[in-house]
Amino acid sequence: MLDNASLNSARQPAVETFNLVRRFGTFTAVDNINLRVESGRFFGFLGPNGAGKSTTIKMLTGLLAVTSGEIRVLGRDIQTEPLEVKRRIGVVPEDLNLFERLTGAEMLTFTGRMYGLQRAEIAERTQELLALMELDNEPRKLVVEYSHGMKKKLSLACALIHRPEILFLDEPFEGVDAIASRTLKDLLSRLTARGLTVFLTSHVLEIVERLCTDIAIISQGRLVAVGSLNELRRGIEVEGDGHASHGPMSLEDYFIHVIGGVRQTGDDVLQWLG
Ligand SMILES: Nc1ncnc2c1ncn2[C@@H]1O[C@H](COP(=O)(O)OP(=O)(O)OP(=O)(O)O)[C@@H](O)[C@H]1O
Ligand SMILES: [Mg+2]
Repeated sequence: MLDNASLNSARQPAVETFNLVRRFGTFTAVDNINLRVESGRFFGFLGPNGAGKSTTIKMLTGLLAVTSGEIRVLGRDIQTEPLEVKRRIGVVPEDLNLFERLTGAEMLTFTGRMYGLQRAEIAERTQELLALMELDNEPRKLVVEYSHGMKKKLSLACALIHRPEILFLDEPFEGVDAIASRTLKDLLSRLTARGLTVFLTSHVLEIVERLCTDIAIISQGRLVAVGSLNELRRGIEVEGDGHASHGPMSLEDYFIHVIGGVRQTGDDVLQWLG
């Protein structure tokens, strides 16, 4: 049976933004974004390089101040109650935020302590997470000596250790090998089936297509499409005439359609390359 608090948190959206804006000087990186991610959904936040995805995730997770607008995560205002929110979310940020002079186990232990977990709990979870991520065979290795993919997996383990209610993942598959990627996909599917909300950015549209229930596409700081994966594949655009004008299409085709085409690579292009 769910108690009242759980019922309330099940009803309210996991993430909501209202007219969210972020400027860097005169440049607007995030331009008036209104997002709503329901609890328990697997949300894919897509867009070309420089579109504003990481800037948005940083604001949603309290790593970057907003210029204007409001953010609610699990019903709370990230700007006025950042600790309340941070306690209940896990984040794999673009630049990973790991301490390089620690071993993987030390990094996980530190993270567990920061979240106030018990020592025994931390020890058990650390061991299990390192094993799952296949990071347990060189226990003395420091993070500074990790490969890029290993760092990514450790960052993910750190994001999971306190059983977050929402997982924010900025390009979690980038640089991760095929086996780890499969483990990660299976794990994320399992966790969302149990009620975890995932907010993911990825350029690997095949993975997004396989995992995500809902999609938003951002371009030059603005939302250009939002809907369930099936709605988008049927060619329904959020702005426009609202009619399905295309047959079912792959997410890649839809993405290219919405973002506006592919650059020429015909015979006359880059002739000097041979
Ligand atoms: N600290 C900063 N100072 C100035 N401009 C910034 C800063 N951070 C991001 N930007 C700019 O904001 C825009 C959005 O960047 P962001 O990192 O959010 O893109 P992204 O969608 O995550 O792209 P990618 O897919 O390449 O990771 C870019 O034009 C970027 O140059
Ligand atoms: Mg980014």
